Amino acid sequence: MAPRGMTVLARLAETEQGSPLFRQVCDYILNRMERGEWQVHDKLPSIRLLAGELQVHRLTVFKAYRALADCGRVYVKDKSGYYVSPGLRDEGAAPASAAGAAVATYALTNAMSDIQRLPVEYQFSQALIDPGLLPNLFLSDYVKKVFDLYPKVLGTYSSVQGDGELRETLSSHFRRRHKLQLTAEELIITSGAQQAINLIAGIVLGPMDAVLVERPTYSVALDIFRRAGARLVPVSITPEGYDLEEVEALMRRYKPRMFYMNPTHHNPTGVTVPAVQRKQMVELAERYRCLLVEDDPFRDMYFGAEPPPPFFAYDTEGWVVYISSFSKYVAPGLRICAVACRYPFAERLITAKSLADNGTPLLNQKIFLHYYTSPRLQRHLDKLRIALQVHKEIAEEELAGTGWEWTPPQGGLNLWVKLPETVSVDRLFARCLAESIAFVPGAICDPLGGMTSWLRLSYSFANEHVLRTGIRRLTELAREV
Ligand SMILES: Cc1ncc(COP(=O)(O)O)c(C=O)c1O
Repeated sequence: MAPRGMTVLARLAETEQGSPLFRQVCDYILNRMERGEWQVHDKLPSIRLLAGELQVHRLTVFKAYRALADCGRVYVKDKSGYYVSPGLRDEGAAPASAAGAAVATYALTNAMSDIQRLPVEYQFSQALIDPGLLPNLFLSDYVKKVFDLYPKVLGTYSSVQGDGELRETLSSHFRRRHKLQLTAEELIITSGAQQAINLIAGIVLGPMDAVLVERPTYSVALDIFRRAGARLVPVSITPEGYDLEEVEALMRRYKPRMFYMNPTHHNPTGVTVPAVQRKQMVELAERYRCLLVEDDPFRDMYFGAEPPPPFFAYDTEGWVVYISSFSKYVAPGLRICAVACRYPFAERLITAKSLADNGTPLLNQKIFLHYYTSPRLQRHLDKLRIALQVHKEIAEEELAGTGWEWTPPQGGLNLWVKLPETVSVDRLFARCLAESIAFVPGAICDPLGGMTSWLRLSYSFANEHVLRTGIRRLTELAREV
């Protein structure tokens, strides 16, 4: 019997069997028990039945039942099967009360938010832009202008789908700039890309549905999919992009409902997937009926050539949903993001949005619209690209000579850095926090929880002086841990 005082999942992580799939099956079983769907002394589904339902190997279900039996959560009756155990609840598991059942859910975590909430002087964990480089002053002009133009702007809801004027403007911008075949009817305004990912996951994913995710990827998306009870299937992303043979094999094997991707100045690696792969990937998506969810917040933050058109530009059958957030280079606080998708998916998204918040605040949409249509935007972007490149170069100068490895990104806000095996990123992280420096340990960006020698350094948020001194200090601390 495993020692008491640890959560079931913590114990499972320590077993050799702690593979992500095995853990997800355990999580699934525990979840149904904690929701009260499977009650004390209820007979659990047979191994064959559950394996069929979850589309996993029977051995995986067998191991999950055995591990839960070891933890005292299920018991076996000879020749009969597995049953829900009456006592021996774990610390950390939800209580057996009605209230406990009400809050029981799939893993409810947000590893990124836990890090970013910590107040630090040297902030390298946030993939955001230094507020001093954003057009705050101009935006304040537009607040006044919006109230003059629309005196009742706070006296009404926006339409759920998003302000019509804004959708017209953005759809014509997407047609012109990115060659997207798109009408305003096919755009939905959400409160940030994060809300879009969350709503899409809610529409598309059910418990144990497979979702392809890049390895590594944006960790908040991983936490959203985990909470939906989905099964994470990693796809490698390298400086050459994806291995399409690998992707096809995974689509064939797991029949994923969707592939969440961030293929342009990817967070955290900075990779941009080449144009030729974009077209081929859309063909794969059509063949295997797998929705491509293209998250594209860094497109305009390039240092050299403009990136290739979005995957959405190659889509003719509605297998791509395109998420374009303006949080990074206009204003994260406005929470403005446009989602492009075809009907009937768009209809579902509008309903999901109406259930979530009944529409993004109209005031924010109008302020954004007036800035977006002004000539100031282009001037701001031109200057911002130069500033970001300078930031990136400062970070690289400070890392030069450490022996750490990274591929210089052609855009975006992050360096994805590999440390030598001799440095423990976990220890470095603890040491840095003690000295008021934050970064993102690579493991939280990995759907498999590995990549323990990597870290993500965002060079865009701190000003140049803070960036230089903070990274210098970080490299000194790495020599001490
Ligand atoms: C890849 C990616 N998607 C989405 C988001 C969230 O964006 P928003 O502020 O629009 O919710 C981020 C923020 O860091 C991100 O890096």
